[in-house]
Amino acid sequence: MRPKPTEIVIFGAGGDLTWRKLMPALYSLFLDRWLPERFAIIGVDRKPMGEKKFHQRLREGVDRFSRHGVTDTNNWKAFRSHIADYISADFSVAETYHDLAKRLDAREQDWGVPATRLFYLATPPSMVEVIAPALHDAGLVKDSDRSRIVVEKPFGRDLESAQALNRLLEENFEEKQIYRIDHYLGKETVQNILAFRFANALFEPLWDRRYIDHIQITVAEQVGIEHRGAYYEKAGALRDMIQNHLLQILCLIAMEPPVSFNDDEIRNKKVDVLRAIRPISVEEAHLYAARGQYGAGWEEGEKVPGYRQEPDVSPDSNTETFAALKLFVDNWRWQGIPFYLRTGKRLPVRASEVVIQFRPVPHQSFPSASIPNWHPNRLVIRIQPRESIMLRFQAKEPGPHLRLSPVEMRFCYADAFHTIPPEAYETLLLDAMLGDATLFMRADQVEAAWSIITPVLQAWEKDPPVDFPNYRASSWGPEVAEVLIAQDGRSWILPGMGPDDDLECGNAEEQRSSRTARNRTSAVSNDGKEIEKRHEAKSD
Ligand code: BG6
Repeated sequence: MRPKPTEIVIFGAGGDLTWRKLMPALYSLFLDRWLPERFAIIGVDRKPMGEKKFHQRLREGVDRFSRHGVTDTNNWKAFRSHIADYISADFSVAETYHDLAKRLDAREQDWGVPATRLFYLATPPSMVEVIAPALHDAGLVKDSDRSRIVVEKPFGRDLESAQALNRLLEENFEEKQIYRIDHYLGKETVQNILAFRFANALFEPLWDRRYIDHIQITVAEQVGIEHRGAYYEKAGALRDMIQNHLLQILCLIAMEPPVSFNDDEIRNKKVDVLRAIRPISVEEAHLYAARGQYGAGWEEGEKVPGYRQEPDVSPDSNTETFAALKLFVDNWRWQGIPFYLRTGKRLPVRASEVVIQFRPVPHQSFPSASIPNWHPNRLVIRIQPRESIMLRFQAKEPGPHLRLSPVEMRFCYADAFHTIPPEAYETLLLDAMLGDATLFMRADQVEAAWSIITPVLQAWEKDPPVDFPNYRASSWGPEVAEVLIAQDGRSWILPGMGPDDDLECGNAEEQRSSRTARNRTSAVSNDGKEIEKRHEAKSD
């Protein structure tokens, strides 16, 4: 389904998000013929910039970040003809919006049809409270069926500020007009969790406390905070990643089957999960949460700075760059089953995975000599990179003796479909144009997620860390995170380190980078502590 004629107004058109994500995504949608014949992109930014320079910058971003690679001149020219204006203006004056309204109306008259209007706020969060009411006051969003606002995270910095932000948006828009982006929900593998669970009868009967021992969700990033020190200092890993991306993944893993794929039905089921998560009290936060901050270290033979030495970061910063949580979902399905979540910057690899660890068989009928190492069944959903699903089970080794070994069955996206999946922003932009809010966050979801993590934030604020930095760059995080899970007799499962290690999946180029990632990991493993962890992961 292609969207109706659409005008996309991007506030913050001169910024990084537009350059890296939005324009490459729109260009890919254009090349793949998803965009309507009549569409126009209007950029608004405070920075003065001539149209020529604006176009040049956008093209450079598309060349660097689009999954279609470097632009072909004819394609770019065709796409550029849809980039209508670059308006350099002050977001806080009413005139900006009156001028915008005139331009949008004129184009619609020219097209002879009313268009969908998408107002994308690719701006710092503080601008939402300036732009949202101004759009309303200028009468730009009064037709609630065809005008929408897209808001980027962070949606507030705790429960109270999120509630205030939702109130402000709701005073100016109907909820159906508000599209709160969590880009993880646009990732193919994240969406595939629903297909895997609810389009197959195989696993759903096992998907509960009777057969599952615990669940781990890891989003490991190899990069540091790059050039985002000013933002990150106020955010930290819990706000930046767990409040949104990891909790959303948890919802998809834990939710009940939806009756239909209607947007509110899916969002209702997800919010049920968030509301069932057992609250963590400020006093007990240390039993359920762990934090860390990276110090200097080595990555691929190069020395990398610690967080406190990064630009725009205070030399005695207490911001966490690693966070881990243990959560329980208090309902019939999940009673007593821990969900361990962790994320961090400057970890040894970039890998996002969900691990579903099944319980052992109820009775062991094989002689213990036949199973030197017991490996329970495990399902691994790899979100990125080399998107795949892996199932581990026991098999008999060939030969006259009775000896069992763990083996893996693996589905790889790239091998199965021979296509490069769309980027998350492509999916989300298209959905917003079509008016499908399934993959966007509703106000109640955002608030429920904040109520889970706000007590932890309060506890951390009350008790500043005394051991930061407490993990070395390119290691798997602080010891407190190991303790968090080890106190339950379990250990973190390292991504891509199953018994048959591993990441070989997809095309040759991907395999090459996979090997680099693995070499990197073993290089890190030259340190005794890491080797130990790797062995633990292999023998759990
Ligand atoms: C963003 C966070 O939401 O997600 C970043 O603000 C993080 O800090 C990024 O790096 C990770 O996204 P992805 O798609 O690269 O895993």
